[in-house]
Amino acid sequence: MKKTVSTFRKAKEDGEKLTMLTAYDYSTAKLEDEAGIDGILVGDSLGNVVLGYEDTIQVTVEDMIHHGAAVARGAKNTLIVVDMPFMSYQASVYDAVVNAGRLMKEGGANAVKLEGGTRVCPQIRAITDAEIPVMAHLGLTPQSINAFGGYKVQGKSEEAAKQLLEEAMAVQEAGAFGLTLECVPAPLAALITAKLDIPTIGIGAGAGCDGQILVYADMLGMFSDYCPKFVKSFADAGKVMKQGFKDYIDEVKAGTFPAEEHTFAMDESVLSKLY
Ligand code: KIV
Repeated sequence: MKKTVSTFRKAKEDGEKLTMLTAYDYSTAKLEDEAGIDGILVGDSLGNVVLGYEDTIQVTVEDMIHHGAAVARGAKNTLIVVDMPFMSYQASVYDAVVNAGRLMKEGGANAVKLEGGTRVCPQIRAITDAEIPVMAHLGLTPQSINAFGGYKVQGKSEEAAKQLLEEAMAVQEAGAFGLTLECVPAPLAALITAKLDIPTIGIGAGAGCDGQILVYADMLGMFSDYCPKFVKSFADAGKVMKQGFKDYIDEVKAGTFPAEEHTFAMDESVLSKLY
C-alpha cells in the first residue's frame, strides 16, 4: 500500500521509526521502494551527487522536476518528497506556491521540502493551504551555505538552541507535516522531537529523532568527494562498481567479451551474398 503523510503521522503516534533515503533516478528509486523504505527524498543534493556541483545553489526547478518524475516512475509504494531548490520559494509566497505546484504536477511529488524556519512560515502555510504537504528543514540548511560560511553543526549555544526550538514550533504551527533536522546536537534534536507532534527526520541529529534519512550514495560508498561524520557505510557499492568497470575494460581489451552467448548469429547463405 502507498505510504502517505498519514503513514508518517501514525508512525509518530505509534512510536515507530521512519526510514528515508534520497534517490534521483528510476532504478535506484525502484530498489529502495522494493526494499520497503517509508519515504524517498529527491534531494537538491542531486546538485552534488548527480550533477557534480560544489553545492546545491545552482539546482533548478527544472532539475528537480526531471529527477522527481523519474523517481516517481520507479517508486510506487513510497512517499515521495521533492526538494524546493534555492530561490524557488525565498522571494515570494506566490513563487513558492507556483513552484510547489509544478513539483507536484510535473515532478511526481507527494510532498515538497523547503529549508528555513520563521522566515518561510508564510510559504509553508500557503503551500499547505494549496493541499501540498510540506516538510520543513532546520539546522544545517545547505542552501544557506554562503550565509553560514561553511557546513557546521547548528544549535550548540543556548541562544542558538532556543532559536532552533522556536523555529521548529513555528514550522509545525504553519502546517508542516514533518521536519528534517540536519547536523543538530543529539540531545537538542531529541528535545525538539519530544516537543513536536509532527515527526522529525534526522540526518546527523542522533537516534532521538522519529526517523532517519541519508543520502543513498553516501551510505553505499558511491560518492567519495567528502564523507560527513554522520554517515555510516552500509555497503561498498562504489568498490563493487569500480571493479565491474575494470573487469569490463580488461575483457573488451582482451577480446573475451562479447562471447558466443552475447552474440546474434546470421544465416550463412545470406552472408555469402554480401561478399
Ligand atoms: O538534499 C538532500 O539530500 C537533503 C538531505 C540531506 C536531508 O536535504
